[in-house]
Amino acid sequence: MRALFLAITLAIAASAFGSAHAASCSIDLKVGDTMGYDQHSVTVGSACTEVTVRLAHTGHLPVQTMGHNVVIGAADAVQGIAQDGAQAGPAANYVKPGDPRVIAATKLVGGGQSTGTSFPGSALKSGGAYRFFCTSPGHLAQMTGQLVVQ
Ligand code: CO
Repeated sequence: MRALFLAITLAIAASAFGSAHAASCSIDLKVGDTMGYDQHSVTVGSACTEVTVRLAHTGHLPVQTMGHNVVIGAADAVQGIAQDGAQAGPAANYVKPGDPRVIAATKLVGGGQSTGTSFPGSALKSGGAYRFFCTSPGHLAQMTGQLVVQ
């Protein structure tokens, strides 16, 4: 029994380590009715031809109340993207149309909805400082994470 418990503990530890460090070509995030993605850091490979972004909103609140998106940008562009996005409004998914600082952006979704997008891996440089974040007004402080490219 004790050996089994140890084996399970090791398996969980190994899978947690693997998911945190494995370089994939997708960014898969979940969010509920609170302002927090399920991950604070995501790693993608530097050799990806295409990077896919997926967001599953597992909550119940409608998009007008607790809408979330995922925007990808360089770390030093986050504030500017979010400020201009807030001005662009919900019809623009809180992303300024044609904003050259935006590497990728999903649409805004509410509870029970999913969304996604993709972008060329060449938009990311290995070792660069990137963030994923939500541009719903007031969400940025809590809804942001590090995108590692390696
Ligand atoms: Co949000």
